[in-house]
Amino acid sequence: MTEGMVAKGLQDVVVDDTWICKIIGDVGKLYYYGYSIHDLAEKCSYEEVVFLLLKGKLPNKTELEQVTGDLKQARGLPKEVTDVIRGAPKGSIPMDVLRTAASALALTDAKPNDDSPEGRYRKAIRMVALFPEIVAADYRLRRGEQPVAANPKLNHAANFLYLLHGKEPGADAARTMDVALVLHAEHDFNASTFTARVIAATMSDMYSAITGAVGALKGPLHGGANEGVIKTLLEIGEPAKIKPWLTEKFKEKNFRLMGFGHRVYKTLDPRAIVLKKYSKKTGEERGTTKWYEMSNEIEGMMKGREKPLYPNVDFYSASTYFMMGLPPEIYTPIFAVARVVGWCAHVIEQQTHNRLIRPAAEYHGEIDKPFVEIGAR
Ligand SMILES: CC(C)(COP(=O)(O)OP(=O)(O)OC[C@H]1O[C@@H](n2cnc3c(N)ncnc32)[C@H](O)[C@@H]1OP(=O)(O)O)[C@@H](O)C(=O)NCCC(=O)NCCS
Repeated sequence: MTEGMVAKGLQDVVVDDTWICKIIGDVGKLYYYGYSIHDLAEKCSYEEVVFLLLKGKLPNKTELEQVTGDLKQARGLPKEVTDVIRGAPKGSIPMDVLRTAASALALTDAKPNDDSPEGRYRKAIRMVALFPEIVAADYRLRRGEQPVAANPKLNHAANFLYLLHGKEPGADAARTMDVALVLHAEHDFNASTFTARVIAATMSDMYSAITGAVGALKGPLHGGANEGVIKTLLEIGEPAKIKPWLTEKFKEKNFRLMGFGHRVYKTLDPRAIVLKKYSKKTGEERGTTKWYEMSNEIEGMMKGREKPLYPNVDFYSASTYFMMGLPPEIYTPIFAVARVVGWCAHVIEQQTHNRLIRPAAEYHGEIDKPFVEIGAR
């Protein structure tokens, strides 16, 4: 067999059944448990989506109160985990701190290996509740500020902004964050989710699976792209420089424009359509639409190429967060704050219908070589 005959990057390989999420890449559709992402983004809170992903149905009012209460109950970062964050050397990468703190959460759980249905739900809720606290504690500590305690009056998204800034966010910012969290909550067998499922399939614990997923999300070809997008926009700097900048960059071999292209979507990512609206709206609210307009212009140019490229979820989230006053280094951690629930849902699904994930590889080396003793090599 020659090298080209393997399923490189597992493209189009169907590796398992799932009931959680469906993407129809040709027409840009995305569903969580059958519900369109557009309906969920416009009509649901993140808490409703947490319930949907963990329980497989939208909550009624009582169930929503229950899950909201469970999330609030699970707030409060253990001192040991805050100490891990405090102990991170100056200049540590926020995703490295999040990965380490996510792992440390297992050490502060009295029953990290409880795989009863209640145990799995409790651990998932705990991680969903504590990821914002980890990200915000690290954010504040690296700015020389002390972490603040969660605000029991606020929902998940508003509380996250409160934890970051130490003051209650305005309604627009809170709603924008809520929508961003809903849009990023789940995306079938993407790289980080598949990583989580591979770890879960060994019947290792949920914390290990989520820690691995954070590591996978960090990469610039996955969740790290949103930070790359804003760096690109800042480097270009102004609308007049877009065309020459892109022309020069596309001459470079292997150049990748961050926030464009997708393994599954062959057209506009539906999440980018929603975030584009929020990028514009946030820019208008903040009195500067420059980053939105530049993004829009880049989108138009990329669509008009001989081989068109379309924006993915990371493209318009970057300008939205930037205009909300959030610094680039926490864009990928924000993605993790949202996606942790999707990872947990997949860990539960994997372990409920489990088979060890152990693919094969096409070996290209020799075999049965004569062994040479060390002195004769
Ligand atoms: C997401 C991504 C990794 C998908 O990669 P993939 O499915 O393996 O697609 P490929 O790398 O095979 O790319 C297919 C073609 O499109 C081009 N392409 C894809 N994304 C591109 C990008 N962002 N910039 C420039 N060219 C791109 C590739 O160069 C390749 O061209 P070729 O056929 O002439 O060689 C890729 O689109 C990418 O690197 N995007 C930028 C990072 C990003 O935004 N990631 C977030 C994803 S949500």
